[in-house]
Amino acid sequence: MPKDFISVADWPAQELRALLDRARELKDLWKRGERPQTLQGRTLAMYFEKPSLRTHVTFEAGMTQLGGHAILLRPEQVGIGSRETGGDVARNLSRWVDALVARTFSHDLVRELAREGSIPVINGLTDQLHPCQAMADFVTVAERADLERAVIAYIGDGNNVASSLVLAGAVLGVEVRLATPESHRVPADVWAQARDLAAASGARIAWSADPREAVEGAGFVYTDVWASMGQEDEAEERRRIFADYQVNAELLRGAPDAWILHCLPAHRGEEISDDVLDGPRSIVFDQAENRLHAQKAILERLLTG
Ligand code: CP
Ligand code: NVA
Repeated sequence: MPKDFISVADWPAQELRALLDRARELKDLWKRGERPQTLQGRTLAMYFEKPSLRTHVTFEAGMTQLGGHAILLRPEQVGIGSRETGGDVARNLSRWVDALVARTFSHDLVRELAREGSIPVINGLTDQLHPCQAMADFVTVAERADLERAVIAYIGDGNNVASSLVLAGAVLGVEVRLATPESHRVPADVWAQARDLAAASGARIAWSADPREAVEGAGFVYTDVWASMGQEDEAEERRRIFADYQVNAELLRGAPDAWILHCLPAHRGEEISDDVLDGPRSIVFDQAENRLHAQKAILERLLTG
Protein backbone atom coordinates (compact mmCIF):
# COMPACT_ATOMS: atom_id res chain seq x y z
CA MET A 1 0.00 0.00 0.00
CA PRO A 2 1.39 3.46 -0.87
CA LYS A 3 2.16 5.85 2.02
CA ASP A 4 0.18 8.68 0.39
CA PHE A 5 -3.03 9.29 -1.56
CA ILE A 6 -1.89 11.60 -4.32
CA SER A 7 -3.21 9.91 -7.43
CA VAL A 8 -5.64 7.02 -7.78
CA ALA A 9 -3.15 5.70 -10.36
CA ASP A 10 -0.68 4.98 -7.51
CA TRP A 11 -3.15 2.52 -5.97
CA PRO A 12 -3.95 -1.01 -7.15
CA ALA A 13 -7.49 -1.86 -8.19
CA GLN A 14 -8.17 -4.15 -5.22
CA GLU A 15 -7.13 -1.38 -2.81
CA LEU A 16 -9.42 1.16 -4.52
CA ARG A 17 -12.29 -1.34 -4.47
CA ALA A 18 -11.72 -1.96 -0.75
CA LEU A 19 -11.84 1.80 -0.17
CA LEU A 20 -15.13 2.08 -2.08
CA ASP A 21 -16.60 -0.81 -0.07
CA ARG A 22 -15.46 0.65 3.23
CA ALA A 23 -16.85 4.08 2.25
CA ARG A 24 -20.27 2.54 1.66
CA GLU A 25 -20.03 0.62 4.93
CA LEU A 26 -19.08 3.79 6.84
CA LYS A 27 -22.04 5.57 5.23
CA ASP A 28 -24.42 2.79 6.34
CA LEU A 29 -23.00 2.83 9.87
CA TRP A 30 -23.36 6.60 10.03
CA LYS A 31 -27.00 6.42 8.86
CA ARG A 32 -27.71 3.77 11.50
CA GLY A 33 -26.27 6.01 14.21
CA GLU A 34 -23.19 3.88 14.77
CA ARG A 35 -20.00 5.81 15.36
CA PRO A 36 -16.84 3.70 15.06
CA GLN A 37 -14.03 5.61 16.77
CA THR A 38 -11.28 4.23 14.57
CA LEU A 39 -9.22 7.45 14.56
CA GLN A 40 -9.47 8.32 18.23
CA GLY A 41 -6.59 10.53 19.30
CA ARG A 42 -5.43 11.10 15.70
CA THR A 43 -4.85 14.55 14.20
CA LEU A 44 -5.11 15.65 10.56
CA ALA A 45 -3.51 18.90 9.35
CA MET A 46 -5.35 20.52 6.42
CA TYR A 47 -3.36 22.95 4.23
CA PHE A 48 -5.52 24.84 1.71
CA GLU A 49 -4.09 27.31 -0.83
CA LYS A 50 -7.42 27.49 -2.66
CA PRO A 51 -11.03 27.94 -1.51
CA SER A 52 -13.05 24.91 -0.46
CA LEU A 53 -16.43 24.05 0.97
CA ARG A 54 -16.77 20.29 0.44
CA THR A 55 -13.18 19.14 0.86
CA HIS A 56 -12.54 21.22 3.96
CA VAL A 57 -15.79 20.39 5.74
CA THR A 58 -15.81 16.68 4.85
CA PHE A 59 -12.22 16.11 5.98
CA GLU A 60 -12.80 17.99 9.23
CA ALA A 61 -16.19 16.39 9.93
CA GLY A 62 -14.81 12.99 8.89
CA MET A 63 -12.03 13.23 11.47
CA THR A 64 -14.51 14.29 14.16
CA GLN A 65 -16.88 11.44 13.29
CA LEU A 66 -14.10 8.87 13.63
CA GLY A 67 -12.96 10.28 16.99
CA GLY A 68 -10.03 12.35 15.71
CA HIS A 69 -9.32 16.03 15.21
CA ALA A 70 -8.39 18.33 12.31
CA ILE A 71 -6.44 21.61 12.14
CA LEU A 72 -6.90 24.06 9.24
CA LEU A 73 -3.73 25.77 8.01
CA ARG A 74 -3.83 28.73 5.65
CA PRO A 75 -0.88 29.55 3.36
CA GLU A 76 -0.42 32.99 4.95
CA GLN A 77 0.12 31.32 8.34
CA VAL A 78 2.51 28.69 7.05
CA GLY A 79 4.42 30.62 4.38
CA ILE A 80 5.72 27.77 2.23
CA GLY A 81 8.45 29.33 0.08
CA SER A 82 8.57 32.55 2.14
CA ARG A 83 8.85 31.54 5.84
CA GLU A 84 10.30 28.10 5.13
CA THR A 85 10.50 25.36 2.54
CA GLY A 86 7.78 22.83 1.85
CA GLY A 87 10.19 20.12 2.99
CA ASP A 88 10.72 21.77 6.38
CA VAL A 89 6.96 22.25 6.81
CA ALA A 90 6.43 18.55 6.05
CA ARG A 91 9.19 17.51 8.48
CA ASN A 92 7.69 19.66 11.25
CA LEU A 93 4.14 18.43 10.71
CA SER A 94 5.42 14.84 10.71
CA ARG A 95 6.53 15.30 14.34
CA TRP A 96 3.09 16.49 15.51
CA VAL A 97 0.21 15.15 13.47
CA ASP A 98 -0.76 11.84 11.88
CA ALA A 99 -1.58 12.96 8.34
CA LEU A 100 -1.77 15.99 6.06
CA VAL A 101 -4.33 16.86 3.41
CA ALA A 102 -3.08 19.53 1.00
CA ARG A 103 -4.94 21.54 -1.65
CA THR A 104 -2.39 23.41 -3.73
CA PHE A 105 -1.93 24.99 -7.12
CA SER A 106 1.26 23.06 -7.82
CA HIS A 107 1.05 19.30 -8.04
CA ASP A 108 4.80 19.12 -7.44
CA LEU A 109 4.33 20.75 -4.03
CA VAL A 110 2.03 17.94 -2.87
CA ARG A 111 4.58 15.41 -4.14
CA GLU A 112 7.32 17.31 -2.26
CA LEU A 113 5.33 17.36 1.00
CA ALA A 114 4.81 13.61 0.65
CA ARG A 115 8.44 12.91 -0.18
CA GLU A 116 9.90 15.02 2.62
CA GLY A 117 7.43 14.14 5.37
CA SER A 118 7.05 10.76 7.05
CA ILE A 119 3.27 11.07 7.50
CA PRO A 120 0.67 10.17 4.84
CA VAL A 121 -0.16 13.07 2.52
CA ILE A 122 -3.57 13.24 0.83
CA ASN A 123 -4.13 15.28 -2.32
CA GLY A 124 -7.12 17.53 -1.63
CA LEU A 125 -6.94 18.87 -5.24
CA THR A 126 -4.09 20.26 -7.29
CA ASP A 127 -4.09 21.91 -10.71
CA GLN A 128 -3.53 18.39 -12.07
CA LEU A 129 -5.63 15.93 -10.06
CA HIS A 130 -8.53 15.55 -7.61
CA PRO A 131 -8.35 11.92 -6.45
CA CYS A 132 -10.65 12.20 -3.40
CA GLN A 133 -13.37 13.53 -5.71
CA ALA A 134 -12.94 10.53 -8.00
CA MET A 135 -13.36 8.14 -5.07
CA ALA A 136 -16.62 9.82 -4.04
CA ASP A 137 -17.71 9.77 -7.69
CA PHE A 138 -17.25 6.01 -7.92
CA VAL A 139 -19.02 5.45 -4.59
CA THR A 140 -21.93 7.41 -6.09
CA VAL A 141 -21.88 5.44 -9.34
CA ALA A 142 -21.68 2.14 -7.43
CA GLU A 143 -24.83 3.12 -5.50
CA ARG A 144 -26.78 3.23 -8.80
CA ALA A 145 -25.11 0.69 -11.10
CA ASP A 146 -22.71 -2.23 -11.35
CA LEU A 147 -19.31 -0.72 -11.90
CA GLU A 148 -18.47 -3.34 -14.54
CA ARG A 149 -21.40 -2.20 -16.67
CA ALA A 150 -21.43 1.53 -15.89
CA VAL A 151 -20.73 4.06 -18.66
CA ILE A 152 -19.69 7.55 -17.55
CA ALA A 153 -19.55 10.42 -20.04
CA TYR A 154 -17.63 13.48 -18.87
CA ILE A 155 -18.34 16.65 -20.85
CA GLY A 156 -16.30 19.88 -20.73
CA ASP A 157 -12.78 20.77 -19.67
CA GLY A 158 -10.03 18.14 -19.45
CA ASN A 159 -9.11 19.38 -15.97
CA ASN A 160 -8.09 17.88 -12.61
CA VAL A 161 -11.53 16.30 -12.08
CA ALA A 162 -11.60 14.77 -15.56
CA SER A 163 -8.06 13.45 -15.14
CA SER A 164 -8.74 11.70 -11.83
CA LEU A 165 -12.06 10.38 -13.15
CA VAL A 166 -10.53 8.73 -16.21
CA LEU A 167 -7.59 7.39 -14.19
CA ALA A 168 -9.93 5.87 -11.61
CA GLY A 169 -12.11 4.36 -14.33
CA ALA A 170 -8.99 2.92 -15.97
CA VAL A 171 -7.80 1.32 -12.71
CA LEU A 172 -11.24 0.02 -11.75
CA GLY A 173 -12.24 -1.24 -15.20
CA VAL A 174 -15.10 1.24 -15.68
CA GLU A 175 -15.94 2.79 -19.07
CA VAL A 176 -15.22 6.52 -19.10
CA ARG A 177 -15.76 8.68 -22.20
CA LEU A 178 -14.37 12.19 -22.25
CA ALA A 179 -15.76 14.87 -24.55
CA THR A 180 -13.59 17.98 -24.53
CA PRO A 181 -12.37 20.39 -27.18
CA GLU A 182 -9.18 19.11 -28.81
CA SER A 183 -7.38 22.12 -27.24
CA HIS A 184 -8.52 21.17 -23.72
CA ARG A 185 -8.00 17.43 -23.53
CA VAL A 186 -6.60 15.94 -20.32
CA PRO A 187 -2.78 16.28 -20.33
CA ALA A 188 -1.00 13.81 -22.64
CA ASP A 189 0.83 12.11 -19.75
CA VAL A 190 -2.44 11.53 -17.90
CA TRP A 191 -4.05 10.10 -21.03
CA ALA A 192 -1.06 7.82 -21.67
CA GLN A 193 -1.18 6.58 -18.07
CA ALA A 194 -4.94 6.00 -18.33
CA ARG A 195 -4.43 4.05 -21.58
CA ASP A 196 -1.84 1.80 -19.90
CA LEU A 197 -4.03 1.22 -16.85
CA ALA A 198 -7.06 0.54 -19.04
CA ALA A 199 -5.12 -2.01 -21.07
CA ALA A 200 -4.38 -3.86 -17.79
CA SER A 201 -7.90 -3.62 -16.33
CA GLY A 202 -9.88 -4.04 -19.56
CA ALA A 203 -11.57 -0.66 -19.09
CA ARG A 204 -12.84 1.14 -22.17
CA ILE A 205 -11.75 4.75 -22.20
CA ALA A 206 -12.44 7.09 -25.07
CA TRP A 207 -12.05 10.70 -26.10
CA SER A 208 -14.16 12.64 -28.57
CA ALA A 209 -14.57 16.33 -29.35
CA ASP A 210 -18.30 15.67 -29.76
CA PRO A 211 -20.38 15.69 -26.56
CA ARG A 212 -23.32 14.05 -28.39
CA GLU A 213 -21.21 11.06 -29.30
CA ALA A 214 -19.96 10.73 -25.70
CA VAL A 215 -23.38 10.85 -24.00
CA GLU A 216 -25.08 8.43 -26.42
CA GLY A 217 -26.39 5.62 -24.22
CA ALA A 218 -24.34 6.66 -21.16
CA GLY A 219 -25.72 5.84 -17.70
CA PHE A 220 -23.96 8.81 -16.08
CA VAL A 221 -23.24 12.27 -17.49
CA TYR A 222 -20.66 14.31 -15.58
CA THR A 223 -19.47 17.89 -15.94
CA ASP A 224 -17.33 20.42 -14.08
CA VAL A 225 -16.64 24.14 -14.37
CA TRP A 226 -15.01 25.51 -17.53
CA ALA A 227 -12.65 27.78 -15.56
CA SER A 228 -11.07 26.10 -12.55
CA MET A 229 -9.67 27.84 -9.49
CA GLY A 230 -6.68 29.87 -10.67
CA GLN A 231 -8.10 30.28 -14.20
CA GLU A 232 -10.54 33.08 -13.35
CA ASP A 233 -8.82 35.45 -15.82
CA GLU A 234 -9.59 33.04 -18.66
CA ALA A 235 -13.29 32.69 -17.76
CA GLU A 236 -14.57 34.85 -20.61
CA GLU A 237 -12.47 33.12 -23.26
CA ARG A 238 -13.38 29.72 -21.86
CA ARG A 239 -17.11 30.53 -22.06
CA ARG A 240 -16.60 30.88 -25.81
CA ILE A 241 -14.41 27.78 -26.18
CA PHE A 242 -16.82 25.52 -24.26
CA ALA A 243 -20.11 27.01 -25.51
CA ASP A 244 -21.11 23.74 -27.23
CA TYR A 245 -20.30 21.62 -24.18
CA GLN A 246 -23.14 22.62 -21.85
CA VAL A 247 -24.95 19.70 -20.21
CA ASN A 248 -28.57 20.60 -20.86
CA ALA A 249 -31.87 18.96 -21.83
CA GLU A 250 -31.00 18.99 -25.51
CA LEU A 251 -27.68 17.18 -25.04
CA LEU A 252 -29.37 14.66 -22.75
CA ARG A 253 -31.75 13.54 -25.50
CA GLY A 254 -28.99 11.03 -26.29
CA ALA A 255 -29.10 9.69 -22.72
CA PRO A 256 -32.56 10.42 -21.30
CA ASP A 257 -32.12 8.08 -18.31
CA ALA A 258 -28.61 9.17 -17.38
CA TRP A 259 -27.81 10.17 -13.82
CA ILE A 260 -26.23 13.61 -13.62
CA LEU A 261 -22.94 14.14 -11.82
CA HIS A 262 -21.08 17.36 -10.94
CA CYS A 263 -18.30 17.71 -8.39
CA LEU A 264 -19.57 21.20 -7.41
CA PRO A 265 -19.31 24.13 -7.11
CA ALA A 266 -21.37 24.60 -10.30
CA HIS A 267 -21.43 27.67 -12.49
CA ARG A 268 -25.15 27.45 -13.24
CA GLY A 269 -26.02 28.37 -16.80
CA GLU A 270 -22.46 27.71 -18.01
CA GLU A 271 -21.36 24.06 -17.99
CA ILE A 272 -24.80 22.90 -16.80
CA SER A 273 -28.31 24.28 -17.07
CA ASP A 274 -30.38 24.88 -13.93
CA ASP A 275 -33.11 22.45 -14.98
CA VAL A 276 -30.61 19.61 -15.31
CA LEU A 277 -28.70 20.41 -12.12
CA ASP A 278 -31.95 20.65 -10.14
CA GLY A 279 -33.76 17.92 -12.07
CA PRO A 280 -34.91 14.47 -10.96
CA ARG A 281 -31.86 12.69 -12.42
CA SER A 282 -29.34 14.89 -10.63
CA ILE A 283 -27.35 13.09 -7.92
CA VAL A 284 -24.84 15.85 -7.31
CA PHE A 285 -25.66 16.13 -3.60
CA ASP A 286 -25.27 12.37 -3.13
CA GLN A 287 -21.87 12.87 -4.67
CA ALA A 288 -21.08 15.68 -2.21
CA GLU A 289 -22.38 13.53 0.67
CA ASN A 290 -20.16 10.68 -0.42
CA ARG A 291 -17.03 12.84 -0.17
CA LEU A 292 -17.41 12.47 3.60
CA HIS A 293 -17.49 8.68 3.66
CA ALA A 294 -14.96 8.12 0.87
CA GLN A 295 -12.44 10.27 2.70
CA LYS A 296 -13.12 8.58 6.05
CA ALA A 297 -12.24 5.30 4.33
CA ILE A 298 -9.03 6.83 2.90
CA LEU A 299 -8.06 8.27 6.30
CA GLU A 300 -8.67 4.97 8.09
CA ARG A 301 -6.65 3.04 5.52
CA LEU A 302 -3.69 5.44 5.60
CA LEU A 303 -3.67 5.92 9.38
CA THR A 304 -4.49 2.45 10.65
CA GLY A 305 -3.44 0.20 7.74
N1 CP B 1 -15.79 19.36 -5.14
C1 CP B 1 -14.93 20.01 -4.31
O1 CP B 1 -13.76 19.64 -4.15
O2 CP B 1 -15.50 21.06 -3.66
P1 CP B 1 -14.71 22.18 -2.84
O3 CP B 1 -13.85 22.92 -3.82
O4 CP B 1 -15.77 23.03 -2.22
O5 CP B 1 -13.86 21.50 -1.80
N1 NVA C 1 -11.93 21.82 -11.57
C1 NVA C 1 -12.37 22.53 -10.40
C2 NVA C 1 -12.83 21.58 -9.35
C3 NVA C 1 -13.33 22.22 -8.09
C4 NVA C 1 -13.73 21.21 -7.05
C5 NVA C 1 -11.25 23.43 -9.90
O1 NVA C 1 -10.10 22.99 -9.87
O2 NVA C 1 -11.53 24.57 -9.53
